[in-house]
Amino acid sequence: MQTSKIDVEHDGKGIKLKTINDIHWGDEQCDEKAFKRYLADSDEHTYFIGLGDYMDMIIPSDPRYFPGMTGSVVDIVDHQLRGFADLLSPYTDKMLGLGWGNHEWEILKRHGTSPASRLNEMLGTRDLGYSGLLNLCLKQGGKNSRSVIIRYHHGFGGSSRTSGGDLTKFEKECANWDADLFLYGHVHKLQTVRVVRGGLCGATFVAKDQHLVICGTFKKTFNDGPCPTWSEKMGFPMRTVGGPTIYIEPRRHRHEIRVLA
Ligand SMILES: [Fe+2]
Repeated sequence: MQTSKIDVEHDGKGIKLKTINDIHWGDEQCDEKAFKRYLADSDEHTYFIGLGDYMDMIIPSDPRYFPGMTGSVVDIVDHQLRGFADLLSPYTDKMLGLGWGNHEWEILKRHGTSPASRLNEMLGTRDLGYSGLLNLCLKQGGKNSRSVIIRYHHGFGGSSRTSGGDLTKFEKECANWDADLFLYGHVHKLQTVRVVRGGLCGATFVAKDQHLVICGTFKKTFNDGPCPTWSEKMGFPMRTVGGPTIYIEPRRHRHEIRVLA
């Protein structure tokens, strides 16, 4: 569990937040062009947060490995680290940090090197760990700060084949934390839901929003050919390739969050 507080400046209109997760760079199903477009569709007020599974990192000792899946590359871990760091390098000054996914965790567990930590070292970005709480403090001219509490986790459990299964699973996790924005990866779905809780502001009844975002993937579900993808063999439905854009806009007393997913 990693806790962080990060201050960002805005011009009165707020910021955009994009997530970097489940890219699986190095796998032939990775849609690198779509990921590059997602990164490039940004401006000076756009920030990024990483939730893991950046690189596929399935190596010959992994039961999921099959010959040819990484071309003729020998140094798979180092090759994928270099390649993915190159992709992110133009955006490092807008990175809130990069967390870990289960693909990076498997390499650490089996081989004693942490690809996510190494990626952060290469880029000079903050290591956000496997999950955490982040206090994102929006400031205008160094004052008028508004805090947005973000709960993030790479994600857990198998991906659901129904449209509501993963939302239900993660909504249960949301109940454990006091946060405004909840970000999850791992299940390769792009979904969002607004959870509204009743509360008081002074003596006035108000609706308080929490936003749950399942942050998509840039790994394609199917290929065009006889050799099946893992998702095809497992009977998973088609997934959208892409990630969310989260608009965080300061208001008089707190902030407004809108999610495009
Ligand atoms: Fe993934």
